[in-house]
Amino acid sequence: MFPKKPPMGFNTWNTFAENISDEMIRQTADAMVEKGLLAAGYEYLVIDDCWSERQRDSVTDKIIPDRKKFPNGMKAVSDYVHEKGLKFGMYSCAGVRTCADYPASFDHEFLDAKTFAEYGADFLKYDFCYRPENVNGPLLYRKMSMALKASGRDIMLSACNWGSDNVHQWIRSTGAGMYRSTGDITDSFVSFRDIFLSQIDNFVYSAPGCFNDIDMLTVGMRNRGNVAASGCTDTEYRTEFALWCMFSAPLMLGCDVRNIDDVTLKLVTNKHLLRINQDEEGRPPFIARYGSDNMRNIYFKVMSDNEFALMFTNLEDGEYRLWLPLEDLGIPVSSGKGLSLINAFTGEDAGIVKENMYQSLEAHDCAVYIAKIVDA
Ligand code: GLA
Repeated sequence: MFPKKPPMGFNTWNTFAENISDEMIRQTADAMVEKGLLAAGYEYLVIDDCWSERQRDSVTDKIIPDRKKFPNGMKAVSDYVHEKGLKFGMYSCAGVRTCADYPASFDHEFLDAKTFAEYGADFLKYDFCYRPENVNGPLLYRKMSMALKASGRDIMLSACNWGSDNVHQWIRSTGAGMYRSTGDITDSFVSFRDIFLSQIDNFVYSAPGCFNDIDMLTVGMRNRGNVAASGCTDTEYRTEFALWCMFSAPLMLGCDVRNIDDVTLKLVTNKHLLRINQDEEGRPPFIARYGSDNMRNIYFKVMSDNEFALMFTNLEDGEYRLWLPLEDLGIPVSSGKGLSLINAFTGEDAGIVKENMYQSLEAHDCAVYIAKIVDA
């Protein structure tokens, strides 16, 4: 599977960890349709770790779904998800056990890929715990990629080696469609800020076909569930979501979408932000102006149809006023051109700027605009 745009969906880990079940997955599938998330593009429903029995079947050597959590087996769950128009995602790991200590796919790659194909999986998140010390990391991802391709079903490989072995340099060549580049996110401003900042120089490797995955979103978790930490304010969630959109990161929701609140739903279905994330050209933004060790950067992203996305960030703890001379975007005063702006959060017309733009931002806030070049 070759993802032309950053994959979008929901993953169980951030909120549910081992508290997953047939019922919970079906309710989530229902919610994704009823709340308009599927219509907005969130198409994958991914079951993360903790879905299986603790041991493989002693006769077939297959991984078996947990009989209590999934009494109807996994194909029944997958069928339900597909009937709703969603795609179905599974999870395994390249080592001998998953990160939460369930059976994993080392030396069972082809058998497991076939099993996932039998379930009707469209997506496989493939983790990196408990791998034998002297085994080559890239080879483990090549193996599962080949196993999926041999499985008889189109299953996207979502690699998850947390950035090991300079993953951005080789993962595209394995056939994977996205790749985790960082350690695990928790529901706090500092966590998503540092995860984002760690990848600033690597987003140039992320493009249609294989996207840099900076982890599942914590947006809307409101400090509940498995990766709860200090929680985030609405301003911080807005900044998190906007950064993920601006940098074409996969948008995998991690909150409990069955109970998603209105503020979060509005944010994650915002058509301007999704237009930026899903732009078919999938270009990385450039840093138009650096500020304070990347804490106050201004980003500019060239998109299709002669549109642009402009983002001001303030990741610092105090209020700041940022200055952008349009010269830094490649629009000199002598051109006679300026930018007409739409505020991405509100959809409001933000007028035309020329020569200089100023943006005041509260702590941890951002501003995002969709821009067009106009005579000014
Ligand atoms: C690792 C991954 C997480 C999650 C857990 C499951 O930590 O990075 O995203 O899949 O394993 O155990």
